[in-house]
Amino acid sequence: MQVLTSAGAMNEKARGLRAERKRLGLVPTMGMFHEGHLSLMRRARKENDVLTVSLFVNPAQFGPGEDFESYPRDQEADLRKAEEEGVDLVFMPGVEEIYPPGDRTFIEVEGLSDVLCGERRPGHFRGVTTVVAKLFAVCLPHRAYFGKKDFQQWVIIRRMVSDLRMDVEVVGCPTVRERNGLAHSSRNFYLDDDDRARAIGLRRALQAVSEDFREGRKDPPALIGIASKVLEAHGLRRDYLVIVHPETLVSLDEITGPAVVLGAVWCGKARLIDNLELD
Ligand code: PAJ
Repeated sequence: MQVLTSAGAMNEKARGLRAERKRLGLVPTMGMFHEGHLSLMRRARKENDVLTVSLFVNPAQFGPGEDFESYPRDQEADLRKAEEEGVDLVFMPGVEEIYPPGDRTFIEVEGLSDVLCGERRPGHFRGVTTVVAKLFAVCLPHRAYFGKKDFQQWVIIRRMVSDLRMDVEVVGCPTVRERNGLAHSSRNFYLDDDDRARAIGLRRALQAVSEDFREGRKDPPALIGIASKVLEAHGLRRDYLVIVHPETLVSLDEITGPAVVLGAVWCGKARLIDNLELD
């Protein structure tokens, strides 16, 4: 496994591999690897000749007062885990490699980046799309892997790739969960035992929506009402809980086609998100 910290060296390496007709897979991450990250690496390992993992805690996607400084980091453990997963290249740039002095260009996906998590965290998705576009430009992947746990992020990145005709296949991967149903997340690190026990209420609320939906209830306000009670019963403070169209993220008045229920809650110091597609 080779670790590269320079964008120039990473780009040169990727160009060389492309010239050898290798298929390049990329898993962008902010580190602190858990089973969710590792599942993306395993899938990408199988589907590509060369697997690059980027590890960069991206300051542009954290708002003022958010947890950029305290975001959990463990570089040594991450490199060990990446090696175990058969990763070929780790791209681990410093901030100035990605945002050199004088850098002025940002990417904004209008309408999708300013709702839900984007409304609560202004500028967050602008930071995500900008860094992902830069990572694509440097690492030159044929395929890039993202978790559907961050459903809105996945939707926005697909929109960006399509709108800008980027020559990258975006692969969405299922959410990996702990045995009790809690979605793996770097921010679960912030939860104490009591928070952890309550945190599964988010998954349970989403499942309540899915079950009622399958039993024939199709109106979002009623479905959300039931799920809200589940959140309350677990002592979770709701940030949002909505049923939206899976591509436009527009709130649905009635479910007649594809739909996804998205939730964000506060649990102790952590803000947790999860979602469930309603088929
Ligand atoms: P990070 O939170 O480190 O997540 C990296 C990737 O792992 C994302 O695609 C995310 O959706 C996926 N992931 C996280 N938890 C998961 C889980 N439980 N199951 C499956 N996949 C999961 O998301 C980011 O970093 C950043 O915004 C990034 C895209 C790297 C841009 O900075």
